[in-house]
Amino acid sequence: MRRKLTAVTWVLVCVASLACTAAWCDDDDGPGHDTEHAARALIAAGRHTFRFDTFGDEAFWGDTLRLHQAIEGSRFGGVGAGVSPKTALAVGLKVDVDALPGSLIQALRRGQVNLDDPATTLALLKLNAVIGVTGFFTPGGTSLRSVGIQCALCHSAVDNSLAPGIGHRLDGWANRDLNVGAIVGLAPDLSTVATLLRVDEATVRKVLAAWGPGKFDAELLLDGKGFRPDGKTAATLIPPAFGLAGVNLHTWVGWGSVTHWNAFVATLEMHGKGTFFDPRLADAEQFPVAARAGFDNVRNDPDLVSPKLPALHVYQLALAAPAAPRGSFSAAAAARGQQVFSSSHCDSCHAPPTFTEPGWNLHTPAELGVDDFEANRAPARGYRTAPLKGLWTHQEGGFYHDGRFATLAAVVDHYDVQFGLHLSPQEKKDLVEYLKSL
Ligand code: HEC
Ligand code: HEC
Repeated sequence: MRRKLTAVTWVLVCVASLACTAAWCDDDDGPGHDTEHAARALIAAGRHTFRFDTFGDEAFWGDTLRLHQAIEGSRFGGVGAGVSPKTALAVGLKVDVDALPGSLIQALRRGQVNLDDPATTLALLKLNAVIGVTGFFTPGGTSLRSVGIQCALCHSAVDNSLAPGIGHRLDGWANRDLNVGAIVGLAPDLSTVATLLRVDEATVRKVLAAWGPGKFDAELLLDGKGFRPDGKTAATLIPPAFGLAGVNLHTWVGWGSVTHWNAFVATLEMHGKGTFFDPRLADAEQFPVAARAGFDNVRNDPDLVSPKLPALHVYQLALAAPAAPRGSFSAAAAARGQQVFSSSHCDSCHAPPTFTEPGWNLHTPAELGVDDFEANRAPARGYRTAPLKGLWTHQEGGFYHDGRFATLAAVVDHYDVQFGLHLSPQEKKDLVEYLKSL
């Protein structure tokens, strides 16, 4: 009887798998589960969210901070001189060439576009061509009503195919040119932030001005710390948002999973209309600002973030780190450097293929030989082993959470001392070539 059933089952499985080679069925996960198809749909939806969704945050950036008025300038109903495309590019904003009509591309090539005129910035916003920024226009379309931001603002670059700062999107790349502090500092009204932090507006502006390119401070609105004890900015580098599949803890200081962080950023940092729950933020000693603002339990109705989290999560995990271009490193030296990487036990923490530890990928500041300032601004009080894939894409701004090591050679020198490696100059060079090849 048992035998007979098994045989029947086999026949059924065979028929099913034959049937499933047909175009209408890609199904090898059981009835009703077309996993590839569903994953593709999630990736497409997640990409759209990553690139274009403001989660309703224009209520903050536009309606409250009035950033749109500074962008358009007084000529179009705002305030001040306005932001020209030249200024926008200088603070690291990027333009998506695929959103531009052919005629405009031609005109840009011929140098016939006025890059000093804020009117051109408004035209680019209307085309939805400024990466990570959405302009909301008045019904007549002559002036801005509000402005919102997206994930792509900080986590996308372009390939500069048309001109520096203008090209095809590179989703997931860290925008190390972007001066977030300078951009936010343009806002005419920062009183809401000042009130939240219980400081005056001038202090907020001082903190923002100190961030510099490629940096943002995700913890400022939690603990109110604008500067480190040594007087330098408390902001950290914008990390890439690719190469994260298989990585357990995220962010420099291991706040949680990718989807925890996505909900955190969309709701608490971008000020989208979302739901965010994390009781660790109720700790008034570590997070005085967050605790009194109730950031440990934020609710919004309607919730414009939570419905998008599943697809955004899948998209984040699907973004692979781009391979290092041929010629950007010496292959022979990199092969030798790989040996140095493993003989120096770099791989005990940076374990391939994720280049972080499978498991609890967090270390004490003392283990790494660095100060604990930034570690202490997150619940786990440690530093997360940085995934190293795609390092070549973010050499600008330096390495480690705050960019304290300007070059990969400086990182290697630090480990040489910290772990007593006694590497020869040649070994150090080879190790750097290997890091550039990842
Ligand atoms: C204003 C700039 C900015 C925006 C906008 C932004 N991020 Fe980030 N993102 C950062 C910074 C800075 C960090 C590092 C934070 C830290 O470690 O404290 C980070 C960290 C991350 C990480 C962790 C990466 C890693 O190595 O583990 C992910 C994932 C991420 N962001 C995804 C997103 C998504 C998705 C959005 C949109 C919902 C978004 N970010 C919006 C600046 C930004
Ligand atoms: C004890 C675990 C550990 C060991 C061993 C280790 N690392 Fe790291 N590594 C880390 C952590 C944690 C960070 C993140 C530090 C930070 O955010 O400030 C890091 C960061 C880095 C970075 C900077 C990444 C970035 O995005 O800025 C590089 C490069 C690096 N390590 C290379 C190496 C090399 C090469 C070795 C061997 C000589 C090595 N690591 C050994 C834990 C380790």
